[in-house]
Amino acid sequence: MKRKNILLSAIIFPAVMAFAQQYGGMWIPTELNEKEMKDLGMKISAKDIFSTSKPSIKDAVVQFNGGCTAEIISPKGLLLTNHHCGYSQIQKHSTVENDYLSDGFWAKDMNGELPNPGVTVDFIADIKEVTASVLAGTQNLDEKAAAVSVTANIEAVKAGFKLEPWQKVVVKPMYYGNKYYAFIIETYKDIRLVGAPPSSIGKFGSDTDNWVWPRHTGDFSMFRIYADKNNKPAEYSKDNIPYTPKYFLPVSIKDLQENDFTFVFGFPGRTTEYLPAIAVEKIMNEIDPAMIAVREVALKTLNEKMRTDNETRLKYAAKYASVANYHKKWIGEVEGLKKSDAVGKKKIYEQSLIGKNAEIKPTIDELNRLYTEQSPYALNKAYYSEVVRNAETLSLANHYLNFIKSYEDGKINDQTLNAFKNKLKGIYQDYNGELDAKVTAQLLALYAEKTPKEFLPKNFDQFKDVTKNLGTFEKWSKNSVVTGRGMINGATASADIDKVFSNPTAMIKNLKNDPIIQLAAGMRDTYTKTTEGKYAEYQDQIDGLQKKFMAQQMATDKERKFFPDANSTMRVTYGQVKGSNPKDAISYNYQTHLSGVMEKYIPGDYEFDVPKKLVNLYDTKNYGVYKDKTGDVPVNFTATNHTTGGNSGSPALDAKGNLIGLNFDRQWEGTMSDINYDPRFSRNIMVDTKYILFIVDKFADSKWLLNEMKIVK
Ligand code: ARG
Ligand code: GLU
Repeated sequence: MKRKNILLSAIIFPAVMAFAQQYGGMWIPTELNEKEMKDLGMKISAKDIFSTSKPSIKDAVVQFNGGCTAEIISPKGLLLTNHHCGYSQIQKHSTVENDYLSDGFWAKDMNGELPNPGVTVDFIADIKEVTASVLAGTQNLDEKAAAVSVTANIEAVKAGFKLEPWQKVVVKPMYYGNKYYAFIIETYKDIRLVGAPPSSIGKFGSDTDNWVWPRHTGDFSMFRIYADKNNKPAEYSKDNIPYTPKYFLPVSIKDLQENDFTFVFGFPGRTTEYLPAIAVEKIMNEIDPAMIAVREVALKTLNEKMRTDNETRLKYAAKYASVANYHKKWIGEVEGLKKSDAVGKKKIYEQSLIGKNAEIKPTIDELNRLYTEQSPYALNKAYYSEVVRNAETLSLANHYLNFIKSYEDGKINDQTLNAFKNKLKGIYQDYNGELDAKVTAQLLALYAEKTPKEFLPKNFDQFKDVTKNLGTFEKWSKNSVVTGRGMINGATASADIDKVFSNPTAMIKNLKNDPIIQLAAGMRDTYTKTTEGKYAEYQDQIDGLQKKFMAQQMATDKERKFFPDANSTMRVTYGQVKGSNPKDAISYNYQTHLSGVMEKYIPGDYEFDVPKKLVNLYDTKNYGVYKDKTGDVPVNFTATNHTTGGNSGSPALDAKGNLIGLNFDRQWEGTMSDINYDPRFSRNIMVDTKYILFIVDKFADSKWLLNEMKIVK
């Protein structure tokens, strides 16, 4: 196999040279690195993956509700995504009596599928590079004028597309604005829940196992796309019909082998592979640790309550999972950045670039200066945003502050008022004021402790004492309209939001005297005055230079194949099924099995319980066609695909384009791949399709779903 070697890997990681795969990469599906894909074993062609002249795999891959990925696995619009991607929907259909989160849900037939108002899926009908039109006439302009001109050009480009009534076009920058691409999008809006395993399968191992290999999670759920009678997008209606896709994925239940070629198709959210060393140093040493510290406090308090109170557990399930998820991710990221010596590696790379092109030196020097000067503001931004996000009472207070301002500016009409009330209703539904008073009290102390005086409101020192805060905040919380506990206009906001807003003048007067509102306003004003503007000023300059640095890297490093950082647009990544050696003397197999689920089984545990029926299937070895050559059912496997958040629910396909797995996570030791992909440690984690079909068939007795699929044996 021909292998171009990046100078850098040769210097620092001779071990990497034995690794067949040269590139990570999230490739735009119209510009695949087909050569390396074929070298690694792909049997189909780029045209089978993305085409507008014939049905192709891209027609079966959708963005699920703006965040995750999902794929179509039957001619009747059956969608597969992760359990954690459908989690909020499963939660919304759950009550203490009808607890689908705990017990799972399986529709008996199409009539039993549950609608999810507001949930959408996006198809990509086409992708076009539009760089020339977007950058036309901007070459000699200064940065501000160029930005204005780019915005206008984008509008013109969009207007130039002939669209069907159900299509829209979005133009996205790539390579930090050195290139632009247009995406033609079709959005379907009637998406129904078909099935989900109990959390003890779909979220088996919960937060303890999250981001961790070896893994044993059946992280999948199923939905279905419905369309109007012309197969076009429509709002929910009981008259809608199952969507007929242009293409759907055959599902393979063949045994996997180590080194098998695989590729992953999806909508990765955000990566930053091309940052200078100084930026990585700041993330690793300052920003990530700050965010970790805030979440640590919030999670501990919430967890204690959720473990002992069922109603709180259900209310906070999705919120808690999402806060816990990145908390753990950042811890892994920091470790991985250190272990892979990302900063050292980048510094050497920068020197090698300068060696080839002296003009790069001033770019890097200037980036060093800007990041260093921006650092105190960046750190305050990290603390402030995380504190307000996790102290929900403060973020509620900010919503009310926005309302007061809009009201006083005369900007409230029936429509904005309703939108505002609905937003609050949603928040109160999953919020417990008494519990959050405890979280907020502690986060205020942390913020007071960690923040330099010049970034704090006057007299903020008084919040340094947690015990005192707990008393003060509970007292404020009990009487406050904000927390949904205090009465105004004859009601509390958590019980009857309409009544609370029935007399806005009285409500606003009350709010203005509320100490929680005053506190939130003081924090926000100080943050805006001292940090927000300064941070943005530096960031604008950094963005401009990063664009230049990106262009310089691409022009100078001729041997490297560049791919644009992830930005929630459709991408393909590829690799091989592989285990790993993340630590001295530790070596991981690429695959786990049902027997491993049973090894982790702790009866009654909130993370490692196993449903009785699954234990029974295990005891009787009722595995049907879903066992592999070892006689056991494979559960999860790892590969070298370069994935990130947003790739959850992405299909993992084999050399022929059959579905072999469902992406849902990465291995902790490699999660720095968002900043520094390292093939030695970076592994994505997938649910084996054998396990998915085994659960649908033997556990859920839902053969009617299997009958829709095309199963490749
Ligand atoms: N770590 C995976 C991802 O980033 C899965 C998260 C869901 N699971 C959880 N225990 N929170 O989304
Ligand atoms: N679990 C992630 C998600 O929700 C995908 C895993 C990752 O970040 O690699 O998108």
